[in-house]
Amino acid sequence: MKTPRELLAAARQAAGRAHAPYSRFKVGAAVTDERGRVFTGANIENASYGLTVCAERVAVFTAIAAGARRITAVGVTSRSLKPVAPCGACRQVLIEFAAPSTPVYLDAGRGKVIHESVGSLMPTAFGADSLPAAHET
Ligand code: THU
Repeated sequence: MKTPRELLAAARQAAGRAHAPYSRFKVGAAVTDERGRVFTGANIENASYGLTVCAERVAVFTAIAAGARRITAVGVTSRSLKPVAPCGACRQVLIEFAAPSTPVYLDAGRGKVIHESVGSLMPTAFGADSLPAAHET
């Protein structure tokens, strides 16, 4: 189990690797999986703006591609002064792999951390259990 501060420290390091020449808004995310492993991501922008991928999705997809099956905690930070919360697309991706009770820690700056959960960020979500037949892979 990582503490919120440990997770956000990993996210902060990842933010330094962001490719954000257009917005200059560097975001870092760190997630843990069911085995306690930590995976990080940073936002990766593109000259064709719509292809930009957020830090959170990079972190989740990196974890899943490495064999993680479930996301058990999430930390998000930005190098701007304001706290950053996952966008709608990232919330939808999170509920694919994380239970509603999964903690989401948002770096609020000045050593403050906002504690949310996947369920609080994404109530009444459309997910795997909304479909009649979701199969394990
Ligand atoms: N961004 C993230 O990486 N995560 C968020 O939660 C919000 C936004 C990125 C996308 C884009 O590169 C930049 O921040 C400005 O929107």
